[in-house]
Amino acid sequence: MSFGELIRSRRMTRDFSPEPLAPGLLDELLDSARRVPSAGNTQGFEFLVLDSPEAVSRYWDTTLPVPRRERFGFPGLLTAPALVVVYADPRAYLQRYSEPDKAATGLGTDAAAWATPYWLVDASFAALALQLAAVDAGLGVLFFGLFDRAPAVAERFGVPDHMEPVGTVAIGHRGGEVEGRSRRRPRRPLSEVVHRGAW
Ligand SMILES: Cc1cc2nc3c(=O)[nH]c(=O)nc-3n(C[C@H](O)[C@H](O)[C@H](O)COP(=O)(O)O)c2cc1C
Repeated sequence: MSFGELIRSRRMTRDFSPEPLAPGLLDELLDSARRVPSAGNTQGFEFLVLDSPEAVSRYWDTTLPVPRRERFGFPGLLTAPALVVVYADPRAYLQRYSEPDKAATGLGTDAAAWATPYWLVDASFAALALQLAAVDAGLGVLFFGLFDRAPAVAERFGVPDHMEPVGTVAIGHRGGEVEGRSRRRPRRPLSEVVHRGAW
């Protein structure tokens, strides 16, 4: 599939077959994901990789306790063989922007001084690259939020306090077709999104 075809045909998957990923494949995808551009080449993103049945179960036990599963709209999401929780490390950016070639920006001292928190930009780029690499490998993915479960996930898996969660990417072989609630929203036309020359 060409990149153009991939980007146009990609949709989120919410139903996975429990088939495991080929050995080594997830590492290849992560290796692609870490090659995204990053501010100051800081590369301050981290991947919490849960790719054993035990680790995946631990994630779901933490975020979706069994009594709530009956009402959960996407039961086929729980069979994805791999989950990658993407984190951003603001401290890495403060450190990087304190280095001599960046110190003049004044961004090395205070995360609040950043008009755009580049750690979230870079980690989001990495999360997207991971998704596109997985789709390119013939797999399905779902990016979903951690919401109020972020602290519980951090505690369960020993994530350092200062890490900022970006989201979780479920990766696996596609099962059936399950539409997300937002799927029917039409794509906004290009003319509405583009503000050429002025807004
Ligand atoms: C930041 C972000 C958060 C998302 N959170 C969820 C989520 O919690 N649950 C879910 O089912 N889909 C989630 N999605 C997937 C979107 O619903 C989906 O990308 C959107 O409806 C467009 O559909 P498509 O990706 O299949 O083209 C999220 C996507 C993004 C980018």
